[in-house]
Amino acid sequence: MWLTTIANIAFLSLANGVPTGKIHHPSPIAWTDCINISVPLKCGTLSVPIDWRDPRSKRFDLFVTKIPARNASGSIGNLFYNPGGPGDAPSSDLVPGGGMYEWLMRSKTTEYFDFIAIDPRGTGKSNPVQCDPILWSMEVSEFPTSEDEYTHMVSHWREVGASCLQLTGSFLGYVNTDSSARDFEAVRLALGNEPMNFLGFSYGTQLGSQYAELYPHNIRAMVLDANLDHSQTSPIYAWETESQGYENTLLQFFAWCKDTPTCALHDETDIPAYFDRLVDSANAHPITSTSAACLAAACPPVTGTNIMGLNTQSLLVLPNGEFGSPGWLGLAEALKNATTNGNVDLLVQLPPTATTNGIFSYVAIICADWPFAEPNESYTQYLNRLHMARTLSPHTRGAGEFWFLHTACQSWPVPPRNPPHEITTLKNPSNQLKTPILMVNALHDPETSYAWAVNLQRQFGDKNAVLLTRNGSGHTSYTQSGAVSDAIDEYLVRLKVPDGGTVLRNEGI
Ligand SMILES: *[C@@H]1O[C@H](CO)[C@@H](O)[C@H](O)[C@H]1NC(C)=O
Ligand SMILES: *[C@@H]1O[C@H](CO)[C@@H](O)[C@H](O)[C@H]1NC(C)=O
Ligand SMILES: *[C@@H]1O[C@H](CO)[C@@H](O)[C@H](O)[C@H]1NC(C)=O
Ligand SMILES: *[C@@H]1O[C@H](CO)[C@@H](O)[C@H](O)[C@H]1NC(C)=O
Ligand SMILES: *[C@@H]1O[C@H](CO)[C@@H](O)[C@H](O)[C@H]1NC(C)=O
Repeated sequence: MWLTTIANIAFLSLANGVPTGKIHHPSPIAWTDCINISVPLKCGTLSVPIDWRDPRSKRFDLFVTKIPARNASGSIGNLFYNPGGPGDAPSSDLVPGGGMYEWLMRSKTTEYFDFIAIDPRGTGKSNPVQCDPILWSMEVSEFPTSEDEYTHMVSHWREVGASCLQLTGSFLGYVNTDSSARDFEAVRLALGNEPMNFLGFSYGTQLGSQYAELYPHNIRAMVLDANLDHSQTSPIYAWETESQGYENTLLQFFAWCKDTPTCALHDETDIPAYFDRLVDSANAHPITSTSAACLAAACPPVTGTNIMGLNTQSLLVLPNGEFGSPGWLGLAEALKNATTNGNVDLLVQLPPTATTNGIFSYVAIICADWPFAEPNESYTQYLNRLHMARTLSPHTRGAGEFWFLHTACQSWPVPPRNPPHEITTLKNPSNQLKTPILMVNALHDPETSYAWAVNLQRQFGDKNAVLLTRNGSGHTSYTQSGAVSDAIDEYLVRLKVPDGGTVLRNEGI
């Protein structure tokens, strides 16, 4: 996952293309064993200001973990990592048994680098955002069909936002990505001022881009895998491009299923029509999952909007079942189960139960970075968007992350202090990077549209970034083996940069 008023454009005052944001003398990080001594993870904290623009501002502790390089003698330096979300916290993801940890421990990232994973501000153990889970979970239509329903939806999200402000305090106004990029710089300095190596997945690409915007001279290598383009000042276009990436990838899934005998929907004569009928019927009659686990947990019923929205979108992310995920085979089976045996566990959205939850951090960070609906979107404007969605994305009907966030962020209680903007600092020749950034994107990405990667590369320019295209489907590329991932390894370890315009494949879909 990775999206409220253009009130503070002056926030990023990058006058004359000169990066600002110098950070003085952070104290060193004291590492301790964090999980247990048989696991090579170290933990530490660094105190940083809530507001980097106000030196007297209150401070909080940023939580940092480290996996020391497996080949200490071959170590190239520190590799900073962000897993995406936003809201994902390495302190909970990088645990033994978790698929990501196992992949990292096999990969070049932990062989040749001291792997540094920060819980970004507002997530995990770094002063996490808090909201009221009961308010959040109240039934509210994501696709209202009357003006009353629309007004109800908007005021629901206004109340949720107000609860986040009440529980989190004024810190809620400072969980933006520009501040996080400065936090990363503070950790780099605290670890001895070595050049920055950076690996960002999904939303992590925005964090990396904003770091490059601020600190172009401090980078050795940067991999941006599945790119979020933060220059899109129109929320309509940001949503439309995401929606088309999602629709396009769903069409790839339908075609793959038609060609793949083991796909549970293979024998359907018209798979897209099956999907559309399922969405309509589950909207008319939501499906309560028949599994024992779901009956015991009192799972909420699955609506057509759940199916067509975030659930199918997120099940398209890892087509090959990476990290033990269901993959496209699992998605097809879940869609088939919905009309045969009613086991729709995979499509259930469990509501948050505690005041901290990755989804709260997610919404807070996106609302701090993206203004939606300025001024307030009217019901008529909403209807226009609905018509557009049904026409341009007929199967997914505009659903997806920005659709949801458009509403969730619309009346967020704090201003977006890091609003969308073009990255212009790198156009100044004195800021040219020593080695270009390696951007990677799949052509068929259900979350970060290939269009975003193309537009982000343009902002960096050919001297500062190369876009390596993966001819395949899914969101992110590096954790799948194949030629694309080999090229990323070569870049990170040996600074070998692929030619601009290169298209490669990985194994699998
Ligand atoms: C400690 O690490 C070992 C090895 O990975 C693991 O099996 C064990 O569950 C861990 N213990 C705790 C308390 O995390
Ligand atoms: C560690 O890295 C160095 C430098 O790349 C290499 O020469 C050495 O073979 C590596 N050691 C192991 C055990 O892989
Ligand atoms: C489909 O239903 C069967 C029977 O309940 C279950 O074993 C299976 O795990 C379900 N598949 C998915 C992907 O949820
Ligand atoms: C948006 O709506 C809210 C609540 O109705 C109102 O307080 C605010 O002034 C409106 N903003 C604009 C720019 O119209
Ligand atoms: C991707 O692969 C398909 C199938 O081989 C091919 O038709 C298409 O031209 C390729 N796209 C690009 C951009 O190379």
